[in-house]
Amino acid sequence: MSGFPKDFLWGAATSAYQIEGSPLADGAGPSNWHRFCHAATAGPLLHENGDVACDHYHRYREDIALMKDLGLQAYRFSLSWSRILPEGRGRVNPAGLDHYSRLVDALLEAGIQPLATLYHWDLPAALDDQGGWLHRDCAGWFADYAHRVCGRLGDRVTGWATLNEPWVVAHEGHLQGTHAPGHACPGEVPIVSHNLLRAHGMALQAGRAAGARNLGLVVNLEPKYPVSDRPEDLAATRRADAYMNRQYLDPVFLGRYPAELAEIFGADWPEFPEDDFKVIGEPMDFLGINYYSRSLTRHDPAAAFGQWSSERHPTNPRTDMDWEVFPQALTDLLVDVQARYGEIPILITENGAAYTDPPSVVGEPQDRLRVEYLRSHLLALREAMDRGVDVRGYFAWSLLDNFEWAFGYAKRFGLVHVDFATLKRTPKASARYYSDVIRSGGATLAP
Ligand code: FCB
Repeated sequence: MSGFPKDFLWGAATSAYQIEGSPLADGAGPSNWHRFCHAATAGPLLHENGDVACDHYHRYREDIALMKDLGLQAYRFSLSWSRILPEGRGRVNPAGLDHYSRLVDALLEAGIQPLATLYHWDLPAALDDQGGWLHRDCAGWFADYAHRVCGRLGDRVTGWATLNEPWVVAHEGHLQGTHAPGHACPGEVPIVSHNLLRAHGMALQAGRAAGARNLGLVVNLEPKYPVSDRPEDLAATRRADAYMNRQYLDPVFLGRYPAELAEIFGADWPEFPEDDFKVIGEPMDFLGINYYSRSLTRHDPAAAFGQWSSERHPTNPRTDMDWEVFPQALTDLLVDVQARYGEIPILITENGAAYTDPPSVVGEPQDRLRVEYLRSHLLALREAMDRGVDVRGYFAWSLLDNFEWAFGYAKRFGLVHVDFATLKRTPKASARYYSDVIRSGGATLAP
Protein backbone atom coordinates (compact mmCIF):
# COMPACT_ATOMS: atom_id res chain seq x y z
CA MET A 1 0.00 0.00 0.00
CA SER A 2 1.85 3.06 -1.21
CA GLY A 3 -0.71 5.84 -1.28
CA PHE A 4 -2.44 6.95 -4.47
CA PRO A 5 -0.92 8.20 -7.73
CA LYS A 6 0.28 11.81 -7.55
CA ASP A 7 -2.25 12.99 -10.13
CA PHE A 8 -5.19 11.21 -8.48
CA LEU A 9 -8.05 13.70 -8.18
CA TRP A 10 -9.68 14.16 -4.76
CA GLY A 11 -13.04 15.87 -4.60
CA ALA A 12 -16.54 16.05 -3.22
CA ALA A 13 -19.91 16.07 -4.99
CA THR A 14 -23.31 17.76 -4.71
CA SER A 15 -26.28 18.41 -6.98
CA ALA A 16 -28.26 21.52 -7.79
CA TYR A 17 -31.72 20.77 -6.40
CA GLN A 18 -30.25 19.23 -3.25
CA ILE A 19 -28.22 22.26 -2.16
CA GLU A 20 -28.96 25.44 -4.10
CA GLY A 21 -32.33 26.67 -2.86
CA SER A 22 -34.05 29.64 -4.56
CA PRO A 23 -35.27 27.43 -7.42
CA LEU A 24 -37.22 30.24 -9.08
CA ALA A 25 -34.70 33.06 -8.56
CA ASP A 26 -33.55 35.41 -11.30
CA GLY A 27 -35.86 34.21 -14.04
CA ALA A 28 -35.50 30.45 -13.53
CA GLY A 29 -38.37 28.17 -14.51
CA PRO A 30 -39.72 25.45 -12.19
CA SER A 31 -38.32 21.93 -12.39
CA ASN A 32 -40.26 18.71 -12.06
CA TRP A 33 -38.75 18.24 -8.59
CA HIS A 34 -39.98 21.65 -7.48
CA ARG A 35 -43.43 20.69 -8.65
CA PHE A 36 -43.25 17.18 -7.22
CA CYS A 37 -42.34 18.43 -3.75
CA HIS A 38 -45.01 21.12 -3.73
CA ALA A 39 -47.70 18.70 -4.87
CA ALA A 40 -46.79 16.07 -2.26
CA THR A 41 -49.63 14.79 -0.14
CA ALA A 42 -47.73 12.23 1.90
CA GLY A 43 -44.29 11.35 3.22
CA PRO A 44 -41.47 13.73 4.16
CA LEU A 45 -42.05 15.70 0.97
CA LEU A 46 -45.31 16.98 2.38
CA HIS A 47 -43.22 19.33 4.50
CA GLU A 48 -39.87 19.44 2.81
CA ASN A 49 -38.53 20.66 -0.51
CA GLY A 50 -35.55 22.39 -2.09
CA ASP A 51 -36.86 25.94 -1.68
CA VAL A 52 -34.04 26.86 0.71
CA ALA A 53 -31.92 23.69 0.98
CA CYS A 54 -28.36 24.83 1.87
CA ASP A 55 -28.86 28.21 0.18
CA HIS A 56 -25.76 27.40 -1.83
CA TYR A 57 -27.15 29.57 -4.64
CA HIS A 58 -26.26 32.58 -2.50
CA ARG A 59 -23.54 31.10 -0.30
CA TYR A 60 -21.40 29.41 -2.93
CA ARG A 61 -18.40 31.62 -2.19
CA GLU A 62 -18.47 30.61 1.46
CA ASP A 63 -18.76 26.96 0.41
CA ILE A 64 -15.85 27.26 -2.00
CA ALA A 65 -13.76 28.75 0.82
CA LEU A 66 -14.66 25.69 2.88
CA MET A 67 -13.63 23.37 0.03
CA LYS A 68 -10.34 25.19 -0.27
CA ASP A 69 -9.77 24.93 3.45
CA LEU A 70 -10.34 21.17 3.24
CA GLY A 71 -7.84 20.90 0.40
CA LEU A 72 -10.34 19.61 -2.18
CA GLN A 73 -8.83 19.48 -5.65
CA ALA A 74 -12.10 19.10 -7.55
CA TYR A 75 -15.78 19.77 -7.04
CA ARG A 76 -18.56 17.89 -8.84
CA PHE A 77 -21.78 19.91 -9.01
CA SER A 78 -24.80 19.88 -11.29
CA LEU A 79 -26.50 22.58 -13.29
CA SER A 80 -30.18 23.27 -13.08
CA TRP A 81 -31.51 23.00 -16.64
CA SER A 82 -34.53 25.21 -15.87
CA ARG A 83 -32.37 28.05 -14.49
CA ILE A 84 -30.70 28.20 -17.88
CA LEU A 85 -33.68 27.38 -20.11
CA PRO A 86 -36.80 28.22 -18.07
CA GLU A 87 -39.05 26.35 -20.52
CA GLY A 88 -36.46 23.64 -21.11
CA ARG A 89 -35.80 24.75 -24.68
CA GLY A 90 -35.86 27.89 -26.77
CA ARG A 91 -35.33 31.03 -24.73
CA VAL A 92 -32.14 31.24 -22.62
CA ASN A 93 -32.20 32.97 -19.24
CA PRO A 94 -28.82 34.76 -19.20
CA ALA A 95 -28.91 35.15 -15.40
CA GLY A 96 -28.93 31.35 -15.05
CA LEU A 97 -25.85 30.85 -17.20
CA ASP A 98 -24.13 33.81 -15.53
CA HIS A 99 -24.63 32.19 -12.14
CA TYR A 100 -22.81 29.01 -13.16
CA SER A 101 -20.13 31.01 -14.94
CA ARG A 102 -19.40 32.86 -11.67
CA LEU A 103 -19.39 29.57 -9.76
CA VAL A 104 -16.88 28.07 -12.18
CA ASP A 105 -14.64 31.15 -12.02
CA ALA A 106 -14.72 31.16 -8.23
CA LEU A 107 -13.72 27.48 -8.16
CA LEU A 108 -10.83 28.08 -10.54
CA GLU A 109 -9.68 31.07 -8.48
CA ALA A 110 -9.59 28.76 -5.46
CA GLY A 111 -7.54 26.22 -7.43
CA ILE A 112 -10.41 23.70 -7.53
CA GLN A 113 -11.28 21.87 -10.76
CA PRO A 114 -14.96 22.20 -11.72
CA LEU A 115 -16.69 19.00 -12.89
CA ALA A 116 -20.19 19.72 -14.10
CA THR A 117 -23.12 17.31 -14.35
CA LEU A 118 -25.67 18.45 -16.91
CA TYR A 119 -28.61 16.47 -15.54
CA HIS A 120 -28.99 15.41 -11.94
CA TRP A 121 -32.74 14.67 -12.01
CA ASP A 122 -34.32 18.15 -12.10
CA LEU A 123 -36.08 18.29 -15.47
CA PRO A 124 -37.70 21.58 -16.52
CA ALA A 125 -41.40 21.26 -15.60
CA ALA A 126 -42.33 22.60 -19.03
CA LEU A 127 -40.71 19.54 -20.63
CA ASP A 128 -42.38 17.25 -18.13
CA ASP A 129 -45.68 18.68 -19.42
CA GLN A 130 -44.74 17.37 -22.86
CA GLY A 131 -43.99 13.88 -21.57
CA GLY A 132 -40.47 14.44 -20.27
CA TRP A 133 -38.18 11.46 -20.89
CA LEU A 134 -41.10 9.52 -22.35
CA HIS A 135 -40.98 11.89 -25.32
CA ARG A 136 -38.46 10.77 -27.93
CA ASP A 137 -37.55 14.39 -28.67
CA CYS A 138 -36.43 14.98 -25.08
CA ALA A 139 -33.02 13.61 -26.10
CA GLY A 140 -32.65 16.40 -28.66
CA TRP A 141 -33.87 19.04 -26.20
CA PHE A 142 -31.18 17.86 -23.81
CA ALA A 143 -28.50 17.99 -26.51
CA ASP A 144 -29.49 21.60 -27.33
CA TYR A 145 -29.20 22.51 -23.68
CA ALA A 146 -25.80 20.75 -23.49
CA HIS A 147 -24.63 22.67 -26.54
CA ARG A 148 -25.49 26.02 -25.00
CA VAL A 149 -23.96 25.26 -21.64
CA CYS A 150 -20.79 23.73 -23.07
CA GLY A 151 -20.45 26.69 -25.43
CA ARG A 152 -20.42 29.06 -22.47
CA LEU A 153 -18.48 27.04 -19.88
CA GLY A 154 -16.54 24.53 -21.98
CA ASP A 155 -13.38 26.64 -21.90
CA ARG A 156 -13.21 26.38 -18.09
CA VAL A 157 -15.00 23.24 -16.89
CA THR A 158 -12.48 20.39 -16.74
CA GLY A 159 -14.92 17.49 -16.91
CA TRP A 160 -18.55 16.91 -17.84
CA ALA A 161 -21.03 14.25 -16.91
CA THR A 162 -24.05 14.13 -19.17
CA LEU A 163 -26.47 12.33 -16.84
CA ASN A 164 -26.39 11.28 -13.24
CA GLU A 165 -27.72 7.77 -12.61
CA PRO A 166 -30.23 7.09 -15.39
CA TRP A 167 -31.40 3.98 -13.52
CA VAL A 168 -32.71 6.09 -10.64
CA VAL A 169 -34.56 8.41 -13.02
CA ALA A 170 -36.30 5.44 -14.65
CA HIS A 171 -36.80 3.23 -11.61
CA GLU A 172 -37.74 5.72 -8.88
CA GLY A 173 -39.49 8.15 -11.22
CA HIS A 174 -41.40 5.71 -13.43
CA LEU A 175 -41.65 2.35 -11.67
CA GLN A 176 -41.74 3.18 -7.96
CA GLY A 177 -43.19 6.65 -8.27
CA THR A 178 -41.10 7.88 -5.34
CA HIS A 179 -39.23 10.49 -7.42
CA ALA A 180 -40.48 13.05 -9.90
CA PRO A 181 -42.53 12.66 -12.05
CA GLY A 182 -44.07 10.11 -9.66
CA HIS A 183 -45.31 7.54 -12.16
CA ALA A 184 -45.68 3.86 -11.28
CA CYS A 185 -45.81 2.26 -14.75
CA PRO A 186 -43.27 -0.49 -15.42
CA GLY A 187 -43.80 -0.18 -19.18
CA GLU A 188 -42.40 3.35 -19.07
CA VAL A 189 -39.02 2.20 -17.75
CA PRO A 190 -37.46 0.92 -21.00
CA ILE A 191 -38.71 3.94 -22.94
CA VAL A 192 -37.33 6.42 -20.42
CA SER A 193 -34.03 4.54 -20.10
CA HIS A 194 -33.60 4.43 -23.85
CA ASN A 195 -34.34 8.13 -24.31
CA LEU A 196 -31.94 8.96 -21.48
CA LEU A 197 -29.21 6.94 -23.18
CA ARG A 198 -29.92 8.62 -26.52
CA ALA A 199 -29.82 11.98 -24.72
CA HIS A 200 -26.44 11.05 -23.26
CA GLY A 201 -24.98 10.14 -26.67
CA MET A 202 -26.39 13.22 -28.38
CA ALA A 203 -25.12 15.45 -25.57
CA LEU A 204 -21.61 14.01 -25.95
CA GLN A 205 -21.71 15.01 -29.60
CA ALA A 206 -23.27 18.42 -28.95
CA GLY A 207 -20.95 19.22 -26.03
CA ARG A 208 -17.85 18.33 -28.03
CA ALA A 209 -19.07 20.35 -31.00
CA ALA A 210 -19.39 23.33 -28.63
CA GLY A 211 -15.80 22.93 -27.40
CA ALA A 212 -16.19 20.90 -24.19
CA ARG A 213 -13.62 18.23 -23.39
CA ASN A 214 -13.47 15.24 -21.06
CA LEU A 215 -17.06 14.01 -21.16
CA GLY A 216 -18.65 10.92 -19.66
CA LEU A 217 -21.67 9.29 -18.08
CA VAL A 218 -22.32 8.71 -14.37
CA VAL A 219 -24.04 5.46 -13.38
CA ASN A 220 -24.83 4.01 -9.98
CA LEU A 221 -23.72 0.42 -9.70
CA GLU A 222 -25.04 -1.88 -7.01
CA PRO A 223 -23.44 -5.31 -7.40
CA LYS A 224 -25.87 -8.18 -7.01
CA TYR A 225 -24.90 -11.29 -5.11
CA PRO A 226 -27.13 -14.39 -4.94
CA VAL A 227 -28.56 -15.45 -1.55
CA SER A 228 -27.69 -19.05 -2.43
CA ASP A 229 -26.19 -21.00 -5.30
CA ARG A 230 -29.54 -22.51 -6.28
CA PRO A 231 -29.94 -22.09 -10.08
CA GLU A 232 -33.09 -19.98 -9.67
CA ASP A 233 -31.31 -17.56 -7.33
CA LEU A 234 -28.39 -17.31 -9.75
CA ALA A 235 -30.78 -16.57 -12.63
CA ALA A 236 -32.64 -13.98 -10.53
CA THR A 237 -29.30 -12.36 -9.70
CA ARG A 238 -28.47 -12.08 -13.39
CA ARG A 239 -31.84 -10.44 -14.04
CA ALA A 240 -31.41 -7.98 -11.17
CA ASP A 241 -27.92 -7.10 -12.40
CA ALA A 242 -29.15 -6.67 -15.98
CA TYR A 243 -31.93 -4.37 -14.80
CA MET A 244 -29.94 -2.14 -12.49
CA ASN A 245 -26.40 -2.20 -13.82
CA ARG A 246 -26.03 -3.61 -17.34
CA GLN A 247 -29.16 -1.89 -18.69
CA TYR A 248 -27.05 1.25 -19.03
CA LEU A 249 -23.49 0.03 -19.54
CA ASP A 250 -24.14 -2.68 -22.15
CA PRO A 251 -25.71 -0.31 -24.72
CA VAL A 252 -23.00 2.30 -24.13
CA PHE A 253 -20.06 -0.09 -24.43
CA LEU A 254 -21.41 -3.14 -26.27
CA GLY A 255 -24.10 -1.61 -28.48
CA ARG A 256 -27.00 -3.75 -27.21
CA TYR A 257 -29.23 -4.35 -24.22
CA PRO A 258 -28.74 -7.37 -21.99
CA ALA A 259 -30.99 -10.24 -23.13
CA GLU A 260 -32.55 -10.53 -19.65
CA LEU A 261 -34.42 -7.24 -20.12
CA ALA A 262 -36.80 -8.66 -22.72
CA GLU A 263 -37.57 -11.46 -20.27
CA ILE A 264 -38.14 -9.01 -17.40
CA PHE A 265 -40.38 -6.60 -19.29
CA GLY A 266 -42.22 -9.14 -21.44
CA ALA A 267 -44.82 -7.44 -23.62
CA ASP A 268 -43.59 -4.03 -22.43
CA TRP A 269 -40.20 -4.50 -24.07
CA PRO A 270 -40.10 -2.28 -27.20
CA GLU A 271 -38.30 -2.70 -30.51
CA PHE A 272 -35.61 -0.01 -30.70
CA PRO A 273 -34.33 1.44 -33.99
CA GLU A 274 -30.90 -0.05 -34.70
CA ASP A 275 -29.42 3.36 -35.49
CA ASP A 276 -30.07 4.54 -31.94
CA PHE A 277 -27.25 2.33 -30.71
CA LYS A 278 -24.70 4.24 -32.79
CA VAL A 279 -25.66 7.42 -30.96
CA ILE A 280 -25.74 5.71 -27.56
CA GLY A 281 -22.30 4.22 -28.18
CA GLU A 282 -20.60 7.54 -28.85
CA PRO A 283 -17.16 7.08 -27.21
CA MET A 284 -16.69 8.61 -23.77
CA ASP A 285 -13.59 10.02 -22.14
CA PHE A 286 -14.35 8.54 -18.73
CA LEU A 287 -16.93 6.53 -16.87
CA GLY A 288 -18.27 7.91 -13.59
CA ILE A 289 -19.34 5.33 -11.03
CA ASN A 290 -21.40 6.02 -7.92
CA TYR A 291 -21.14 3.27 -5.33
CA TYR A 292 -22.93 2.99 -2.00
CA SER A 293 -23.87 -0.61 -1.30
CA ARG A 294 -24.58 -4.08 -2.68
CA SER A 295 -27.64 -6.24 -2.42
CA LEU A 296 -28.48 -9.91 -2.16
CA THR A 297 -30.93 -11.35 -4.66
CA ARG A 298 -33.50 -14.09 -4.17
CA HIS A 299 -35.75 -15.70 -6.78
CA ASP A 300 -39.26 -14.63 -5.81
CA PRO A 301 -42.16 -15.61 -8.09
CA ALA A 302 -44.49 -13.45 -5.98
CA ALA A 303 -42.47 -10.26 -6.55
CA ALA A 304 -44.41 -7.48 -8.24
CA PHE A 305 -41.65 -6.97 -10.80
CA GLY A 306 -39.03 -9.22 -12.38
CA GLN A 307 -39.55 -12.23 -10.08
CA TRP A 308 -36.79 -11.39 -7.66
CA SER A 309 -36.51 -9.71 -4.30
CA SER A 310 -33.56 -7.78 -2.93
CA GLU A 311 -32.29 -8.27 0.57
CA ARG A 312 -29.65 -6.78 2.81
CA HIS A 313 -27.23 -8.96 4.68
CA PRO A 314 -28.83 -9.75 8.05
CA THR A 315 -25.92 -8.90 10.34
CA ASN A 316 -23.46 -6.64 8.52
CA PRO A 317 -23.56 -2.96 9.55
CA ARG A 318 -25.92 -0.61 7.70
CA THR A 319 -26.12 3.15 7.27
CA ASP A 320 -29.17 5.28 8.04
CA MET A 321 -30.44 4.50 4.53
CA ASP A 322 -30.51 0.86 5.60
CA TRP A 323 -27.78 0.23 3.06
CA GLU A 324 -25.27 -2.46 3.96
CA VAL A 325 -21.69 -1.31 4.46
CA PHE A 326 -19.74 -3.64 2.17
CA PRO A 327 -16.56 -2.11 0.76
CA GLN A 328 -15.48 -5.35 -0.89
CA ALA A 329 -18.20 -4.87 -3.53
CA LEU A 330 -16.49 -1.68 -4.69
CA THR A 331 -13.36 -3.66 -5.50
CA ASP A 332 -15.39 -6.42 -7.14
CA LEU A 333 -17.46 -4.11 -9.31
CA LEU A 334 -14.46 -2.15 -10.55
CA VAL A 335 -12.63 -5.31 -11.52
CA ASP A 336 -15.80 -6.64 -13.21
CA VAL A 337 -16.47 -3.41 -15.12
CA GLN A 338 -12.97 -3.42 -16.54
CA ALA A 339 -13.18 -7.10 -17.45
CA ARG A 340 -16.55 -6.73 -19.19
CA TYR A 341 -16.16 -3.35 -20.90
CA GLY A 342 -12.41 -2.90 -21.31
CA GLU A 343 -10.11 -0.14 -20.14
CA ILE A 344 -11.57 3.30 -19.66
CA PRO A 345 -10.54 5.96 -17.16
CA ILE A 346 -12.90 5.71 -14.18
CA LEU A 347 -13.89 8.34 -11.67
CA ILE A 348 -15.70 7.38 -8.49
CA THR A 349 -18.17 10.24 -8.78
CA GLU A 350 -20.05 9.46 -5.52
CA ASN A 351 -19.44 7.37 -2.43
CA GLY A 352 -20.50 8.09 1.10
CA ALA A 353 -22.84 7.30 3.96
CA ALA A 354 -25.84 8.74 5.77
CA TYR A 355 -25.49 8.74 9.52
CA THR A 356 -27.13 10.81 12.20
CA ASP A 357 -24.24 12.69 13.66
CA PRO A 358 -23.85 12.58 17.42
CA PRO A 359 -24.83 15.92 18.97
CA SER A 360 -21.89 18.28 18.89
CA VAL A 361 -21.71 20.12 22.15
CA VAL A 362 -18.35 21.66 21.40
CA GLY A 363 -16.52 21.81 18.12
CA GLU A 364 -16.98 19.41 15.22
CA PRO A 365 -19.44 16.51 15.14
CA GLN A 366 -17.52 13.27 15.81
CA ASP A 367 -18.92 11.17 12.96
CA ARG A 368 -16.76 8.15 13.63
CA LEU A 369 -18.92 5.85 11.47
CA ARG A 370 -18.57 8.07 8.40
CA VAL A 371 -14.79 8.20 8.90
CA GLU A 372 -14.72 4.42 8.97
CA TYR A 373 -16.94 4.19 5.88
CA LEU A 374 -14.62 6.49 3.94
CA ARG A 375 -11.49 4.75 5.10
CA SER A 376 -12.70 1.24 4.26
CA HIS A 377 -14.02 2.27 0.84
CA LEU A 378 -10.85 4.11 -0.10
CA LEU A 379 -8.86 1.01 0.81
CA ALA A 380 -11.21 -1.10 -1.34
CA LEU A 381 -10.72 1.35 -4.19
CA ARG A 382 -6.96 1.18 -3.78
CA GLU A 383 -7.20 -2.61 -3.94
CA ALA A 384 -9.00 -2.40 -7.32
CA MET A 385 -6.29 -0.05 -8.58
CA ASP A 386 -3.63 -2.49 -7.42
CA ARG A 387 -5.47 -5.07 -9.50
CA GLY A 388 -5.08 -2.91 -12.59
CA VAL A 389 -8.28 -0.84 -12.73
CA ASP A 390 -7.67 2.65 -14.11
CA VAL A 391 -9.30 4.87 -11.45
CA ARG A 392 -8.38 8.54 -11.78
CA GLY A 393 -10.30 10.22 -8.96
CA TYR A 394 -12.73 10.00 -6.05
CA PHE A 395 -15.59 12.28 -5.04
CA ALA A 396 -17.09 11.95 -1.60
CA TRP A 397 -20.86 12.27 -1.41
CA SER A 398 -21.48 14.79 -0.15
CA LEU A 399 -19.78 18.05 0.64
CA LEU A 400 -22.80 19.24 2.64
CA ASP A 401 -25.75 17.69 4.43
CA ASN A 402 -28.55 18.33 1.96
CA PHE A 403 -32.02 17.55 0.62
CA GLU A 404 -31.97 13.79 0.18
CA TRP A 405 -34.82 13.53 -2.35
CA ALA A 406 -37.77 11.45 -1.11
CA PHE A 407 -36.18 11.33 2.37
CA GLY A 408 -36.10 15.10 2.75
CA TYR A 409 -33.56 16.47 5.22
CA ALA A 410 -33.58 13.45 7.53
CA LYS A 411 -30.64 11.67 5.93
CA ARG A 412 -27.32 13.40 6.41
CA PHE A 413 -24.53 12.50 3.98
CA GLY A 414 -22.35 15.59 4.45
CA LEU A 415 -18.71 15.88 5.38
CA VAL A 416 -19.90 19.27 6.56
CA HIS A 417 -22.84 19.54 8.94
CA VAL A 418 -25.55 22.01 7.98
CA ASP A 419 -27.90 23.39 10.62
CA PHE A 420 -31.05 23.79 8.53
CA ALA A 421 -32.48 26.40 10.91
CA THR A 422 -29.51 28.77 10.68
CA LEU A 423 -27.72 27.32 7.61
CA LYS A 424 -24.49 27.35 9.60
CA ARG A 425 -21.86 24.99 8.21
CA THR A 426 -19.64 22.98 10.57
CA PRO A 427 -17.05 20.55 9.20
CA LYS A 428 -17.40 17.13 10.81
CA ALA A 429 -14.52 14.91 11.93
CA SER A 430 -14.90 13.13 8.56
CA ALA A 431 -14.12 16.38 6.74
CA ARG A 432 -10.88 16.76 8.71
CA TYR A 433 -10.10 13.10 8.14
CA TYR A 434 -10.69 13.38 4.39
CA SER A 435 -8.61 16.51 4.30
CA ASP A 436 -5.68 14.64 5.90
CA VAL A 437 -6.10 11.79 3.40
CA ILE A 438 -5.92 14.27 0.53
CA ARG A 439 -2.91 16.12 1.95
CA SER A 440 -1.02 12.85 2.42
CA GLY A 441 -1.97 11.55 -1.06
CA GLY A 442 -3.74 8.64 0.59
CA ALA A 443 -0.75 7.62 2.69
CA THR A 444 -2.65 8.11 5.98
CA LEU A 445 -5.13 5.39 5.00
CA ALA A 446 -2.93 2.46 5.90
CA PRO A 447 -5.15 -0.14 7.62
C1 FCB B 1 -27.28 9.06 -5.32
C2 FCB B 1 -27.62 10.40 -5.90
C3 FCB B 1 -27.34 11.56 -4.98
C4 FCB B 1 -27.67 11.22 -3.56
C5 FCB B 1 -27.00 9.93 -3.16
C6 FCB B 1 -27.20 9.54 -1.71
O1 FCB B 1 -28.12 8.09 -5.89
O2 FCB B 1 -26.93 10.62 -7.10
O3 FCB B 1 -28.04 12.69 -5.44
O4 FCB B 1 -29.04 11.17 -3.41
O5 FCB B 1 -27.46 8.89 -3.97
